[in-house]
Amino acid sequence: MLPFDVACKLLVGTDSSSDTRFAELFETWCDGLFTVPLSLPWTKFGRALRCREQLLVLIENLVTERQQQPGSEQDALGLLLKARDESGNSLSVQEIKDQVLLLLFAGHETLTSALASLCNLLAQHPEVLAAARAEQRLLADEQLSFELLKKMTYLDLVMKEVLRLIPPVGGGFRQVVVDCEFNNYSIPQGWSILYQIGKTHQDERVYVNPEQFDPGRFKAERAEDKAKPYSYIPFGGGVRECLGKEFAKLEMKLFAAQLLREYEWELLPNQNLDLIMTPTPRPHDGLRVKFQRLVEVNSCPEVV
Ligand code: HEM
Repeated sequence: MLPFDVACKLLVGTDSSSDTRFAELFETWCDGLFTVPLSLPWTKFGRALRCREQLLVLIENLVTERQQQPGSEQDALGLLLKARDESGNSLSVQEIKDQVLLLLFAGHETLTSALASLCNLLAQHPEVLAAARAEQRLLADEQLSFELLKKMTYLDLVMKEVLRLIPPVGGGFRQVVVDCEFNNYSIPQGWSILYQIGKTHQDERVYVNPEQFDPGRFKAERAEDKAKPYSYIPFGGGVRECLGKEFAKLEMKLFAAQLLREYEWELLPNQNLDLIMTPTPRPHDGLRVKFQRLVEVNSCPEVV
């Protein structure tokens, strides 16, 4: 629930949100988002709709509270409350509520999936894990900071490969604005088209052995993703590219660096690691992992 706490703190300014009724409602809502749209009391979809209504009431309370404390712009809700268009109009409470719910979903589910995939793939690829730890050991004397994160270039490759192999978002829709032709197909204006991120990342014309976890494919001398534009699109592309891209990469990197520096982990036996793809990819049984904290003994990490 760490990404939920971070998202709530940075987006709406609330603390320890994962322990609250808000988190419970949010989870049930997410669970029913991509299910058969049959609104009955016992269906996932029906439950999700009811939870959404209750979530919107709680968000409205938050908005009302914050409207009474002008000048608090240190989170996304504060910025939305302050936003004005060219004519000086502010967003309506309904618009703000919808935006907050969208941001919380976008900022939480995706990162939870990405962090679980990172733990899962590193646990299954000891040689990559060892190289990532070696990089952290080289930088061990320095406190985590923005400047230090920039020096973790191998970790960049690892994160990039995690998001290529198991992209948290499956794809997106675009509306065709003028009649056009693609691969000898005519596509009329007004149609909706779906671009697929997972399929793009598995294109054998772009990636060598695309099904393999191989962070080295992004090294400067190979740079497989650079051969064709839009071959690497975990955050989408164009003007509607993910709004939270840099925030997501930063949170992922901080989490990964801290994990590599301070913990050892292994996947527990007898679990089904096959992926469920909705709303975002996650292993069938969740991800059951045993963590052990490392201590520094003569600058060499040991397990406790
Ligand atoms: C690893 C984490 C994340 C991934 C893989 C991801 C991926 C995506 C993708 C594929 C899209 C669709 C882009 C398109 O239509 O071309 C998107 C949109 C969006 N994302 Fe993310 N995202 C992540 C994290 C976040 C975070 C942390 C936030 C906010 C705090 C966020 C906010 C948004 C918003 C608001 C949109 C809609 C942008 C628009 O329609 O203009 N995302 N994201």
